[in-house]
Order: sequence, then structure tokens, then C-alpha cells
Amino acid sequence: MRPTYKTLFGYILISSVLVKAFEPITTTIVAGAGAAAAAGWNMYSYFYESCDSQWIDFNSTGLEVDLNRKLFGQHIVSRVVLKAITGFMKNKNPKKPLVLSLHGGTGTGKNFVSQLIAKNLYKKGTDSGFFHQFVATAHFPHQSQIENYKSQLQHWIKGNITNCPQSMFIFDEMDKMQPGLIDSIKPYLDYYEKLDGVFNRQAIFIFLSNSGGENYMQVALDFWRAGKDREEIELKDLETAFSLPGFNIKKNPIEFEQCNTEGGFWHSLIDKNLVDFFVPFLPLEYKHLVQCGMAEMDALGLVPNHTLVDQVVRVMTYFPKIEKIFSVTGCKTIRNYLYYYRKNV
Ligand SMILES: Nc1ncnc2c1ncn2[C@@H]1O[C@H](COP(=O)(O)OP(=O)(O)OP(=O)(O)O)[C@@H](O)[C@H]1O
Ligand SMILES: [Mg+2]
Repeated sequence: MRPTYKTLFGYILISSVLVKAFEPITTTIVAGAGAAAAAGWNMYSYFYESCDSQWIDFNSTGLEVDLNRKLFGQHIVSRVVLKAITGFMKNKNPKKPLVLSLHGGTGTGKNFVSQLIAKNLYKKGTDSGFFHQFVATAHFPHQSQIENYKSQLQHWIKGNITNCPQSMFIFDEMDKMQPGLIDSIKPYLDYYEKLDGVFNRQAIFIFLSNSGGENYMQVALDFWRAGKDREEIELKDLETAFSLPGFNIKKNPIEFEQCNTEGGFWHSLIDKNLVDFFVPFLPLEYKHLVQCGMAEMDALGLVPNHTLVDQVVRVMTYFPKIEKIFSVTGCKTIRNYLYYYRKNV
């Protein structure tokens, strides 16, 4: 339906542009038709999402406020994500698409941050037709089908970028993605004037993975044991963590120019400097889980109840066994616990 409408209205609008060439009576009729078409097109754009500023309008302040107020315990993430997205959106002529790699333990907010970005970019947020999510294990599970998957993936990306250059792609569970599949999308992440007729430079690609989570846990634990505040952890403190086994980036993880790799799903991306920002998520502590619990109750339309949230959060599993500092599942399971406790209290 959409293309037909657009084509039709577009045709009439073009006619109205030519109006001056016609004699007065024709002019009036065609101008009238043009005005009606324009009104029709406005109506159409009002109700149906289109790839323009009416529906895609980045709200930098909104993202900053959301990251500061809604994202708990991730001071490095907030800073890097805001800088990356704002810088990219301000650039009217980016040389390549923006590529972010979000990594860290489970339930620390990787999908949540992607949702906050979408919310402040598209009027329809994650419901936008330009927001695309791809889960490696669910969408392309069979190793034997890899060649089919590759071409499907390329068509999917190409089609979506053709439909709207300001598309956003989330690739979830990257650490479980079949080797080779990532190669098929590599060209879309790179510098090209126009790739295969597709203008890819305004797109945003976000890769999510659990890799690195244990290493960040160790860094956070070292800080805690040294009596230092969590907020004192800086990006450079996590650089060493990147070089440990299980994570393959050796140095300068953020805004890197000279990252080395030893393998892993992203190694080919890094080899070509395709990832612009690495975003490390720290493990969450009890106090952050309480914040998540209060926010969840609010989101569920319940009156936030600190006693109830405390009850829920206390029974969750923490690491290390003795000190019990960091939640093993992050904020991920809190919503389910809240349901359970609400019924049983
Ligand atoms: N740091 C955080 N601040 C606020 N809420 C959070 C945070 N982390 C997680 N949450 C809450 O928990 C839910 C689940 O988190 P999310 O799906 O983002 O985790 P994830 O990092 O993607 O985990 P996984 O690696 O298992 O996919 C979110 O929808 C959000 O409500
Ligand atoms: Mg996730």
C-alpha cells in the first residue's frame, strides 16, 4: 500500500510543481489537485511512519536524561553512548555507518540501552519500522544453511537501508553467531560512497554480546576490594580486561585505531576498524538491583514498594560467594520475581 500511495501523491505533487506552465483554468484545477494531494500526503505522513524528520528526529537531551535517570550503575556506558550517538547524529555527512559493540554480563542493560537509543531517535521507538533486531541463535540456527543465511542477511540489510538510510540494526547474541555470517554484513559497515546502489552511511549497527563480562566483574571486584568507589572505574581501567582470555581486544578499546585481535566473532570487524566504539557494561550491585526493582514496579503500574523490592532483590544470586557483591543475573529476572512476590505477599 505504502509505495502506491507515495507514488500517487508524488505524481500529483510533481504535477502541481509544473502548474505555472498551464493556462489559468488548468492551473486552478491542477493546483487544487496538488493542494489536495499535499493535504492527503500530510495526512498520510501523520498516520504512517515515513523515513523523514517527522518520524526520525534525534533528541540528544532526551537520550542524556534517559541514560542518567533510567540506566543504573553504568557510568562509562552512559558517557560513551551519548558521545557516540550525538556525534554521529550531528554529522550531516558521516563517512561510514555508526558501529557500536556493547558487551558485558547478562542483565546489565545492553538491550535496554539499545531501546533508549531507539526511543530518542524514532518517534515510534522500538516499534519503528526502521528499528531492526536480529538474534543470532533464533534467526539463523543451522550451520548447514550458512550460505543461505548469508545472502538472506545481505538482502535484509540492503532492503531495509534502501527503504530508509537512517535504519538501526541490533545484532544480539553476537558471541553465539555462526562464524562467517558476520562477514556477509561487513561491507555494510565500511566506508563506501554507495554500496551496490545502497547509501549505507546513515545507518546505525549495534552488536550485543556477553563477552568480556567476567573480566569486567574482576576489575569491578578489584576496585571494591581496594576500597575504591565504583564510579572511579575509568575506561582505561577496563583496557587490561580486554586483553584477558575470553576477550580478544588487546588495547585502546574505545575509539580505537590500533586494536589487535586473536579471534572471536568481532575479530574481522576490528581488523578493518569497522567498530567505532566498544562499550563495556559493568556487573550490577545490590543497590542497582533495588533501583531496577523500583523502576520495574513503576513501569508495571504498581506503587513502588521498597520493602517488597528489597525482599525480591535479597534472594537473588551474587558473586563472589563470600562477599556477594555483584548480581549474577543483573536486573534481568527482577520483573518475574516481582510478579511472583506480589502474588505471594
Ligand atoms: N543497568 C540497568 N539499568 C536499568 N535497568 C536495567 C539495567 N540493566 C538491565 N535493566 C533492566 O533489566 C531488563 C533486562 O536487561 P537487558 O535485556 O538490557 O540485559 P542484557 O544486558 O541485554 O542481558 P543479556 O546479555 O542476558 O541479553 C531491561 O529491560 C531493564 O528493565
Ligand atoms: Mg540482551
